[in-house]
Amino acid sequence: MASRVFPALRKVNPYYATDYGEAWLGDARRLLKLIPDNSVDLIMTSPPYALLKQKQYGNEAAEKYIQWFRPFAREFYRILADEGSFILNISGSWNEGAPTKSLYQYKLLLDLCDPQSKSPRRYRFHLAQEFYWFNPAKMPNPVQWVNVERIRVKEAVEYVWWLSKNERPRANNRKVLTAYSESMKKLIRRGTYNYGMRPSGWNVGKHWNADNRGAIPPNFLPVQLIDPPLNVLIESNTVSNDAFRRKCRELGETAHPASFPAYIPAFFIEFLTESNDVVVDPFAGSNTTGKVADDMKRRWVSVESTEQYLRASRLRWCTDEGKQT
Ligand SMILES: C[S@@+](CC[C@H](N)C(=O)[O-])C[C@H]1O[C@@H](n2cnc3c(N)ncnc32)[C@H](O)[C@@H]1O
Repeated sequence: MASRVFPALRKVNPYYATDYGEAWLGDARRLLKLIPDNSVDLIMTSPPYALLKQKQYGNEAAEKYIQWFRPFAREFYRILADEGSFILNISGSWNEGAPTKSLYQYKLLLDLCDPQSKSPRRYRFHLAQEFYWFNPAKMPNPVQWVNVERIRVKEAVEYVWWLSKNERPRANNRKVLTAYSESMKKLIRRGTYNYGMRPSGWNVGKHWNADNRGAIPPNFLPVQLIDPPLNVLIESNTVSNDAFRRKCRELGETAHPASFPAYIPAFFIEFLTESNDVVVDPFAGSNTTGKVADDMKRRWVSVESTEQYLRASRLRWCTDEGKQT
């Protein structure tokens, strides 16, 4: 059959499809080659991290990580539209046998973006902005340094890098406003403010306390967004995430061990894309991205190499009225 997402693709064999998207089973290095150049508005993904403790689906060692990532990066750059965005969620890691951190994710960032790098590659992304995801559910790890010797603290932050092909990727922060703080609400009500230069050198302008319907969100996730339908979606997706896991248990399917919460893709899809745009997740896992994109009426393609995860991910559409073929 022809692809619903990329009509120029005459022959695809999705593992499953919905009105908006397709889940493809296989190695993303190979399958992404099918996608036409400059045709994707958002790549939203979380690859296996270079962790010391191996995940069930396997992961590369820190020393080999950049080499491993390069073939993916080449395809990401090729398929991304000029004003598109690539959101990469990645976690830090520790050095083997020492209470010190690996620098692998910074080396990867340099490889993806650094104009000085002499590596043989066909990509050069811009770092549009970094985000930090506060994830208190992370385990205290490595146990030796955190729980036994008590010389390190619990890690609770992951990196979420917003990369782009050009310096001005399409984005609109008006779509992801957060609620004003109580003190800001008071200032807006009062209507006057002590404008002018602050000791920090910051010049507070005349429109500083204008009511813009909400505050510009910080680069720290999760943010509490105020605008429906996004909030409603996040709310219902959290519920459907739980429903999805229950459904997996009920049917004896393996729920993915490291899925990200729906608000991560929901935030970036709302911020960086419009209805009918194309969202790709090349390391789809339980296909959180595909489900959120589907709910938000974006076209999507998700690629996952482990069949049991992709098979289970279908159940995301069986917990509500989502349509699948
Ligand atoms: C961190 S998980 C992604 C979880 C996902 N964000 C979710 O919410 O469920 C990374 C996934 O990448 C998959 N993967 C690893 N190598 C791959 C490859 N070459 N092509 C496609 N998927 C791959 C793994 O099987 C794993 O499920």
